[in-house]
Amino acid sequence: MPLDKAATKEPTFTLIDNRTGQNWNFPILSGSLGPDVIDVRRLYAETGMFTFDPGYTSTASCESTITFIDGDEGVLLHRGYPIEQLAAKSDFLEICYLLLNGELPTKVQKKEFWKGITYHTMLDEKLKSFYQGFRRDSHPMAIMCGVVGALSAFYHDSLDIHDPEHRQLAIYRLIAKMPTIAAYAYKTAVGQPFISPRNELGFAENFLHMMFATPCEEYKVRPKVARAMERILVLHADHEQNASTSTVRLAGSSHANPFACVAAGIASLWGPAHGGANEAVLKMLNEIGSKNRVPEYVKRAKDKDDPFRLMGFGHRVYKNFDPRATILRESCHEVLDELDVGEEPLLELAMELERIALQDDYFIKKKLYPNVDFYSGIIYRAMGIPVSMFTVIFAIARVAGWISHWNEWIQEPEQKIGRPRQLFTGATKRNFVPISQRR
Ligand code: CMC
Repeated sequence: MPLDKAATKEPTFTLIDNRTGQNWNFPILSGSLGPDVIDVRRLYAETGMFTFDPGYTSTASCESTITFIDGDEGVLLHRGYPIEQLAAKSDFLEICYLLLNGELPTKVQKKEFWKGITYHTMLDEKLKSFYQGFRRDSHPMAIMCGVVGALSAFYHDSLDIHDPEHRQLAIYRLIAKMPTIAAYAYKTAVGQPFISPRNELGFAENFLHMMFATPCEEYKVRPKVARAMERILVLHADHEQNASTSTVRLAGSSHANPFACVAAGIASLWGPAHGGANEAVLKMLNEIGSKNRVPEYVKRAKDKDDPFRLMGFGHRVYKNFDPRATILRESCHEVLDELDVGEEPLLELAMELERIALQDDYFIKKKLYPNVDFYSGIIYRAMGIPVSMFTVIFAIARVAGWISHWNEWIQEPEQKIGRPRQLFTGATKRNFVPISQRR
């Protein structure tokens, strides 16, 4: 339901300017869940002032019906369904359908969706030649940004964002090709031939097959490992207005094509404060090296003068346990048992870090709990996936959320280009100084 209809125009929020005593009323809007919002769209027109909220800590940037998070209670719902139920009973493509369409698919719809996706898993042969241009030691996320952005140069028949058929085709292509693009980035790094997608395999299974199979011998993905990867994809599929999703929405607000928008999302995800954290967790664990050095690093994390932070701890929204982390913690042990990795020193180290941090006053007071990236890295490592591919797997999953949010935005009746304001604190107007007179 459009917010303007759902919203109560009364009560209102009164803003008083203490300098002049002047006051204004702004409508308070109520969603179906979550805090009410003050509708400040007319603030500048009526008061001549902007709001100031760097990092959007108190700003709802859009109206959405896709995902709801209650960070205080550790709740994550996709279209109303709790993540715990989806992780236990569903699969990644079903989540894609749910995020995109708002409802779980019927058997027929699921079959059609599956067919639609698998039809697009291959890459254009010319696109494959791109990989030869990258250095062998290129970071796979760099390759992802480039190759996904380049899709818009190949698929001109799906670039008209106002045509629902074009949009659907672009959505199918993005979901379908991400695992192939990602696996080929890995193959480039290890100098092995590309393995074509096999459409009879499950989504996660197909990705693992393209990663680890070689033309020399039969490769069978272990069902438990495929299931764990499928679950990781489900858990990472969407997380409402995070940095990369907001990037995709903002890029889309200029009516850029979906491939370009998703490439922008991949770039945003790459940073260690966002999707790059899973890679940073492993690097940190390696740096710590042994259990007895954990207290030293916990001490550093608490030191205001030390930039070191415990990677995989804390979240902008979850000020309680991250529900995805709870599920992955279990998966982590299952995968380690299945793969019989024995005593895994890094896992032991991670558990010790988790134990100490959860007992420490600093982390308790600041509500810094382990997040999803803390556990996913350990699972990837056990599966033999190199650290540089961790964030790439996040991107394969998150494309579902990015493209659902992009599609939601594009169908909004009132589309405004995203254009934040600023609090300017730079130089005021002054005259140009010729170079001969500058000192
Ligand atoms: N280790 C030590 N101290 C921390 C940490 C941490 N990991 N995270 C936050 N703090 C402290 C921070 O120093 C600050 O202290 P003070 O109030 O005394 O200045 C306080 O906790 C609040 O931190 P913040 O930076 O204001 O919180 P934020 O909501 O802006 O940042 C975060 C959230 C995820 C960027 C941050 O917790 C962090 O850098 N964590 C490590 C990186 C990480 O694991 N990122 C993955 C996020 S989950 C996956 C995803 O969404 O992509």
